[in-house]
Amino acid sequence: MTITQSVSYGNFINGEWRAAASGEHFENRNPANSDDLVGLFAASGAEDVDAALAAAANAADAWRRTSPIARATILFKAADILAARVNEIGRELTREEGKTLKEGIGETTRAIQILRYYAGEAQQPDGEHYPSANNQTLLYTVREPLGVVAIVTPWNFPIAIPTWKIAPALAFGNTVVFKPASDTPLCAVRLVEALHEAGLPAGVLNLVTGSAGKVGTPLLSDPRVVGISFTGSNAVGQELKQIAANTGAKLQLELGGKNPAIVLADADVDHALQHLVTGAMWSTGQKCTATSRAIIERSRVDEFTTKLSERINALVVGDPQAAETHIGPVINAKAAERIVADIQRGAGDGAQLLAGGSALSDNGRGKGHFVAPTLFAGVSSDSFLGQEELFGPVLGVIAVDGMDEAMAVANSVRFGLSASIFTRDLGKAMTFAREIQAGIVHVNSETPGAEPQVPFGGYKGSSSYSREQGKSARDFFTQVKTVYIDPPGGA
Ligand code: UN1
Repeated sequence: MTITQSVSYGNFINGEWRAAASGEHFENRNPANSDDLVGLFAASGAEDVDAALAAAANAADAWRRTSPIARATILFKAADILAARVNEIGRELTREEGKTLKEGIGETTRAIQILRYYAGEAQQPDGEHYPSANNQTLLYTVREPLGVVAIVTPWNFPIAIPTWKIAPALAFGNTVVFKPASDTPLCAVRLVEALHEAGLPAGVLNLVTGSAGKVGTPLLSDPRVVGISFTGSNAVGQELKQIAANTGAKLQLELGGKNPAIVLADADVDHALQHLVTGAMWSTGQKCTATSRAIIERSRVDEFTTKLSERINALVVGDPQAAETHIGPVINAKAAERIVADIQRGAGDGAQLLAGGSALSDNGRGKGHFVAPTLFAGVSSDSFLGQEELFGPVLGVIAVDGMDEAMAVANSVRFGLSASIFTRDLGKAMTFAREIQAGIVHVNSETPGAEPQVPFGGYKGSSSYSREQGKSARDFFTQVKTVYIDPPGGA
């Protein structure tokens, strides 16, 4: 692995790159090799947040009045700029996040598609015309921007998630203060650079890097912020509900998942196995949509579990830049420790460990945060492994007697993000789609995935009822104005 010289990056406030007021930096290291310093990033605080909010508030009026067609032109251009750099940025994504190069480039490609999608959406109708009780009245609605919004994003999709929040926020006329996760600030810098180069006016998008305590808290509790879009943990989500209740900000939360994949006895074995493995393990299991429970009909459970363990044991874990690697590191040392501790706790609950189970430090993996892809059989639905999100490469098999029990188990968790069923039985597939408590439902495909043109979000503890992406993003990032226009002299 090549070690390049470290570069330092500032905040982007009011159209310019600036050091943090403190003058301090924090380190961003490659999770596959902690000797590799990706860069130094601004360790910001309340003063930087204040400057970013002032810039966003100052830019809000002019941006609100900018034609949506002009906004769309900027988003299209930013997409072209990213497209010209897709391999380079994909490689940087892999270097700072640890997913494989194919996934890093794939995610950057997705960000480009999202920018183009919202450039298109900006040009779609933004209101409705209604009949009125008075035949002379012109009665219609328009959707107008909220104002200054705060966007706080996780490290696991370091360019796609910021893009799917920022692109609609901007397309629909809001100004933004953006705080990315401190494990992946370089992708945030790249996205902001592309939008800036595409001609976004000063102050419309501001980037402030730093910790949750020093940047997140002052940003999210500031009364100038009228909308908050956050993807991250349930614990932080709960805090944000309290903060938003105090400030009155509109809130959009995308939180955890404990996503089930039901495998019925009539499923196509190879197809189901492939989707269980990729759904659980790609991106090292670090997706809120990852499959973490394989709920399998008892008559086939031994056969499926044996084949699953063969496939999981055969996964190549290592340098995510290498073509042969399937599974890269987890995000940092703390995550690796926590996941291994959770695995041990699962084993202590009586589940059988069939693959993985520990950290990996041999074969050149000693300087990275590698956790072996892990499979448990005999997981009981009400155990820790059956209920809690591990956010790592861990899949648990739960055996069930038929469709009714499968549904009861699938719905028995406090989360409800994504869910899959593998079957050839159309009736059961339709029952599943109707009865499952999840915001995203897959029949015969894996639980992860989110196409930009459709709503994304969860039921129960996975979300806050609002949806991201697709046309739902306009609902979140705008408010409705109802206009009655009558002739000057009345009817
Ligand atoms: C996907 O499944 O491709 O943080 C997207 C997450 C989700 C996004 C998942 N908000 O993992």
